Amino acid sequence: MKIFRIAVIAGDGIGPEVIAEGKRVLQAIAAIDGSFAVEFTDFPWGCEYYLKTGRMMDEDGLEKLKSFDAIYLGAVGYPGVPDNVSLGDLLLKIRRGFDEYINLRPVKLLAGAPCPLKDVNREDIDMMVVRENSEGEYANVGARLYPGTPQEVALQTGVFSRKGCERVIRYAYELARKEDRTLTSISKGNALGFSMVFWDEIFAEVGQEYPDVKTQKFLVDAASMFFVKDPKRFQVVVTSNLFGDILTDLGAAIAGGMGLAAGANLNPERKFPSMFEPIHGSAPDIAGKGLANPLASIWSVSQMLDFFGQPEWGAKVIAAIETLLVEKKTLTPDLGGLAKTKDIAPAILEILKRK
Ligand code: NAD
Ligand code: IPM
Ligand code: MN
Repeated sequence: MKIFRIAVIAGDGIGPEVIAEGKRVLQAIAAIDGSFAVEFTDFPWGCEYYLKTGRMMDEDGLEKLKSFDAIYLGAVGYPGVPDNVSLGDLLLKIRRGFDEYINLRPVKLLAGAPCPLKDVNREDIDMMVVRENSEGEYANVGARLYPGTPQEVALQTGVFSRKGCERVIRYAYELARKEDRTLTSISKGNALGFSMVFWDEIFAEVGQEYPDVKTQKFLVDAASMFFVKDPKRFQVVVTSNLFGDILTDLGAAIAGGMGLAAGANLNPERKFPSMFEPIHGSAPDIAGKGLANPLASIWSVSQMLDFFGQPEWGAKVIAAIETLLVEKKTLTPDLGGLAKTKDIAPAILEILKRK
């Protein structure tokens, strides 16, 4: 029997609360299916670990993670540890170290999910944002000069390589072709005359190999406006690291909230493990109270099942989330319910077991 070995980094704040629910769902699915098993290995890394040891993860952390089939991550970052340290030394270190250059973030309004936009049908919000996840504005190349003096200077350079742009843009074209959907590139060539002009050129170049894929391009400011005013314009979307980060929180807001937004950090070549996570953070404002919505982390279990070659289960998990949302009996407070975080996995499993 195939055993999928999963490294779990529950992390900080609501991370452990939401990950516990996702683990219960995945474990139960494996038991129901019977043709595969899952084996979790928990790593205690995160901000508490940092306060005890001075490190966000072990020095040989990537080496420890390397042989797993996937990584399941909750959230990283908590008051008391500077965010650039906590994220730079754990989450971003894994994304970069394992060359997880594709970040797949569905922005899809599920049946029963609340939408703050008026005059929008459910089918109008159904995108897949393909976010560049290894370089761009997140390359973290820069310097601080003359610290603490009036002449102090901070430099932060974007890194847009031909290889880096081409591979994410090509991935998005392939996805659009496979699904027979339009592809939209979101950039900002009118102001970022080097990096984004380069991006736009590569989008056009690669596009010559995909004459069958219908494309459009928007500047990121206009795209943000259209996400709200006319989201049906977008199907497959490809964009840079920072723009993808911002646009997918906006996407979450129009598609049910942060408690419903999942993301897969993929190394498509499978040379390294890919990582699955809700896109929200550690939510210090609600941590430890059982108020967190674990549906985003359960949605990322669905993405993991797709990645493991179990797309029927991936689809069943999404369908179960929809049933839960439509029935409205077991929802956390962010969705207007009274349920606790730990009530959600049992409710999802009850739905999955219905005939
Ligand atoms: P956040 O996503 O943690 O919270 C933003 C708002 O959304 C809060 O009001 C929070 O209560 C709410 N929210 C988020 N997830 C929710 C859920 N599952 N259920 C119900 N409500 C939810 O963003 P933030 O406050 O900007 O960041 C907090 C910390 O998390 C920071 O340290 C930040 O750097 C970090 N962060 C980590 C990740 C990650 O690990 N992937 C992502 C984003 C932010
Ligand atoms: C996300 C997060 C991260 C990002 C942070 C925590 C570094 O906001 O996954 O969306 O910006 O990529
Ligand atoms: Mn983000």
